Amino acid sequence: MKTSAFIRKYYLDRSDSRSVKWSRGRKQGCLPMWIADMDFRCDERVTRALKDFIQAGDYGYTNLPDDYYQVFCSWHEKRNHILYQQEWIRFTKGAVNAMYQIIHSLTEENDAILISTPLYPPFKAAIKNCKRKVIESPMKNDDGYFTFDYKDIEKKFKTKNVKMLMLCSPHNPVGRVWKKGELEELFELCRKYHVLVCSDEVHSDIIMPDQEFIPSLALKKYQNQTISIIAASKSFSLAVFSHCHVVIPNKKIRDRFIRYQQENNTASVNAFNALPTYYNYIYGEEWLDAVNNVIFDNYHYLKQELGGYMEMSNLEGSYLLFLNLGRYNTCKSAAECLADRCRILANPGESFGKGYENWVRLNLATSPENIKKAADSVLQLIRSKEK
Ligand SMILES: Cc1ncc(COP(=O)(O)O)c(C=O)c1O
Repeated sequence: MKTSAFIRKYYLDRSDSRSVKWSRGRKQGCLPMWIADMDFRCDERVTRALKDFIQAGDYGYTNLPDDYYQVFCSWHEKRNHILYQQEWIRFTKGAVNAMYQIIHSLTEENDAILISTPLYPPFKAAIKNCKRKVIESPMKNDDGYFTFDYKDIEKKFKTKNVKMLMLCSPHNPVGRVWKKGELEELFELCRKYHVLVCSDEVHSDIIMPDQEFIPSLALKKYQNQTISIIAASKSFSLAVFSHCHVVIPNKKIRDRFIRYQQENNTASVNAFNALPTYYNYIYGEEWLDAVNNVIFDNYHYLKQELGGYMEMSNLEGSYLLFLNLGRYNTCKSAAECLADRCRILANPGESFGKGYENWVRLNLATSPENIKKAADSVLQLIRSKEK
């Protein structure tokens, strides 16, 4: 579907809704480009299927659809060329909830867990809240192209007794889709130092046309040390349903996770919350491809308009752009400057890592019209500074 046709059919005006994103925008008189959900209506066939469920009025204890696992596995086989097995899959109430359950079940209090920063803040919060030690490894940045600092990671593995690496793949906020070689180098270090890998792959369906997403579990040599967090929540904007998969091929590790779930009564799955994922995997592919095109167009527009003035992340995956306002930032934080001067709400760079006060994260999953509005107001800021 062409972008213009998709926008006509699926752009969702959420300005008066209870959407978290737009409610705050309304309150502050700003165009909301923070938080990670989309301004697009769900595919109409998915909505119809959900309506049928609601209309039947049977809200008793309910099983998953018989072919749920088959549908899940087919999606990932078709899109990412990986064959997951049903018995590897467990459920959690969302991806952040999965992080907490993985940390609790597979590490001990005070264990060291490494993250590469800048990074989506709930990773660090989860490690801290579970009473584990956060070990940060700052990424290298070459004009918006972020890469792991393997030397630093190895040094920290060696000296800090790290037990787990929490990976974001694709990476929020720097937009990288990790290459096979990058993952191999990282996982080889994990193998050498006996570090488990927890790979959050919730952005793996939003991949720019010239990129290939490599699931962590596709690297067979390292499958036994890896746990993946997989969801359709970002792909199809299903945050309200809090439905997520934890995929664990290693039986010993999986048994520990299952025991934790049993002891904490978190093993069951909510069959209603699973339905939007199920129906989107069946009906949503064309919708998703159109969304990817919209995001790619939006990224290119911003790059063309603002790229000459400021550093921005190389968007390979996800719909989140990391932008360095640099000398155009007139406040303590670039997010404050964007809100005050441009009437744009963005996630503050400093929430992702130390030293990113001049950066903001912008959500591009909206209409080209909103993107243009945002670009125009940032250009005005630039011009006022250049005068
Ligand atoms: C990498 C990543 N993981 C997890 C989440 C949150 O997922 P959930 O709402 O399922 O907890 C987000 C949300 O933006 C995210 O970007």
